[in-house]
Amino acid sequence: MRILITNIGELTTNAPVPEHVEAGDDPCGTLHDAAVLIDGDRIAWVGPAADAPDAEETIDAEGRAVIPGFVDSHSHLVFGGDRAAEFEARMQGQKYAAGGIRSTVAATRAATDDELRIRLRGFLDEMLAQGTTTVEIKSGYGLDVATEERLVRLAAEVTPEVTFLGAHVVPAEYADRGDDYVALVTGEMLDACAPHAKWIDVFCETGAFTVPQSRRVLEAGIARGLQPRVHASQLGPGEGVQLAVELGAASIDHGTYLTEDDVTALAGSETVLTLLPGVEFSTRQPYPDARRLIDAGVTVAIACDTNPGSSFTSSMPFCIAVAVRDMRMTVAEAIHAATAGGAAALRRTDIGRIAPGLRADLVLLKSPSRVHLAYRPGVPLVDAVWKDGVRAV
Ligand code: NIG
Ligand code: FE
Repeated sequence: MRILITNIGELTTNAPVPEHVEAGDDPCGTLHDAAVLIDGDRIAWVGPAADAPDAEETIDAEGRAVIPGFVDSHSHLVFGGDRAAEFEARMQGQKYAAGGIRSTVAATRAATDDELRIRLRGFLDEMLAQGTTTVEIKSGYGLDVATEERLVRLAAEVTPEVTFLGAHVVPAEYADRGDDYVALVTGEMLDACAPHAKWIDVFCETGAFTVPQSRRVLEAGIARGLQPRVHASQLGPGEGVQLAVELGAASIDHGTYLTEDDVTALAGSETVLTLLPGVEFSTRQPYPDARRLIDAGVTVAIACDTNPGSSFTSSMPFCIAVAVRDMRMTVAEAIHAATAGGAAALRRTDIGRIAPGLRADLVLLKSPSRVHLAYRPGVPLVDAVWKDGVRAV
């Protein structure tokens, strides 16, 4: 089936623009008065609307904007319960701490597969309606072999981007025996979870796992064919970023407290820094300065980090708006980070851009430009979504 989306007022391609178009320093490869041809699950053609080829179905975008589907490279969507009371207390001045994770562990262990599955699919629908077409999902609220295996298995039903995060925190039954828990994670738990996962992750932070423990977890995962990504420098500075770069991690996520050495190491590496504006928003922590990072040459992504503790938003447009206002990104940089940046953080070359041969994951906005995503925060601006060439919204 060939579908032509034409009369696009502003097309964000994130791809090199044709020679006759002035690109300037636009990271979004923007085209005006453009059209996109979808053939099956792929993009077949991109160019001026006036030159558009024929198709079996034509969609008139009426001068509005089209962007690539958002690539949300960090989420924790398989869990039971919520922590609304914890959020309320935080808004009254209580500090966020990693230990809150344990209350979600209890609720998750108590939930059936079907309860978790229904919840998970609900979050995915919510995300799709807001323009997200690819989602990475982590385990990490099971923290025993059987429950972690359930979480990665359920995640693998809905995405190829599954992350084993058995090393999220040390569970209560291993209190003061962190090294014994790491032995479980790198042994029996990894054996059970690796077949369902692509990624290995660890929360390298005070209150979670030390640098030597984090190294053991990541190296064990790598030895099993998983690729590393790291949660680090969320609650304070630490050596997690350096470890991530040393091990060639695809991404280090959070980076709320980065040192100059961290920035230098990231800028000279293949490791993406995934910013999570929803976390600083809902934990009242300082926003990292994305301007400083981008100017230093760091590749950045934006993700929602949807989870019941530190960031319970599933809205990429909301995170873009916050990144623009509070992290000093331009709108173009933020949209690029939420699409091509997310793809880089997942080491994917088939998504995050609109170019021939890539997956047909596209979002038609209700607005004439992508700027409205930050300019009209909280307003539902997604009109239509195609995922793998199929109209999904
Ligand atoms: O990415 N940092 C660790 N993990 C999650 C928070 C999990 C929770 O509080 O439940 C995060 O922010
Ligand atoms: Fe996280």
